[in-house]
Amino acid sequence: MGKSDSSTRYGTVTRFLHWGMALLILWQFLSAAARYFFEDTAIEAFFWPTHKPLGVLLLVLMVARLLWAVTHLKQRPPSVNLLAKLGHVLLYLVVIAVPVLALLRQYGSGRAFEVFGIPIFSGFEGEKIRWMLDLGSDWHGELGWALLVLILGHMFMAWRHRKTDQDVMPRMWK
Ligand code: HEM
Ligand code: HEM
Repeated sequence: MGKSDSSTRYGTVTRFLHWGMALLILWQFLSAAARYFFEDTAIEAFFWPTHKPLGVLLLVLMVARLLWAVTHLKQRPPSVNLLAKLGHVLLYLVVIAVPVLALLRQYGSGRAFEVFGIPIFSGFEGEKIRWMLDLGSDWHGELGWALLVLILGHMFMAWRHRKTDQDVMPRMWK
């Protein structure tokens, strides 16, 4: 199997990103759910500390994946229909928007922020940046849950296509 994509199948780079990120995103929703349903319990204490670092890692991976996709657009398998194409574009946009909104809020709080020991913001003195805090608080969690719905829809459509002569699973899996 080639590293690159072809008109009939996705290559190893795309598959590695797709399935690797699917696992990381599953974990990301476990930590979000732990916070939502099990606040102040051992379950939250176990899952929640990974939420911010893994969220930042997902943003980096998704930007890399976007660059990989746009530079190989011409040699990828064609979408089965317009809805599939729009759905995939939407997934890209939302997986980028969700962590960006959280990072804006993080920056606006004025606190220093680091992940995996790498400094991201050094923090600042003085007033917090209100619009950044509000934008993150109003939209990060909401859009995050909307992403979960989109992903479930995506999985459902992949499963439904298996039953037709437009099975798209082999191009991403076999
Ligand atoms: C793809 C990446 C991410 C996804 C899918 C995601 C998803 C979510 C979801 C669904 C919630 C809602 C939990 C609730 O309703 O209580 C949430 C909350 C939260 N997330 Fe994320 N997140 C991501 C990245 C990040 C990043 C990078 C940060 C920090 C820089 C972050 C910080 C937070 C915080 C502080 C909360 C609790 C406050 C709130 O509900 O807004 N997240 N996240
Ligand atoms: C178990 C879960 C999943 C299954 C069974 C699945 C299945 C598939 C299949 C069969 C394709 C090829 C579709 C085609 O070319 O028309 C595909 C593509 C795609 N999937 Fe998934 N998927 C899953 C999880 C996810 C998750 C969590 C995301 C989140 C971003 C995602 C995002 C995408 C995107 C953007 C594409 C287009 C190809 C690309 O640019 O990587 N998938 N998926």
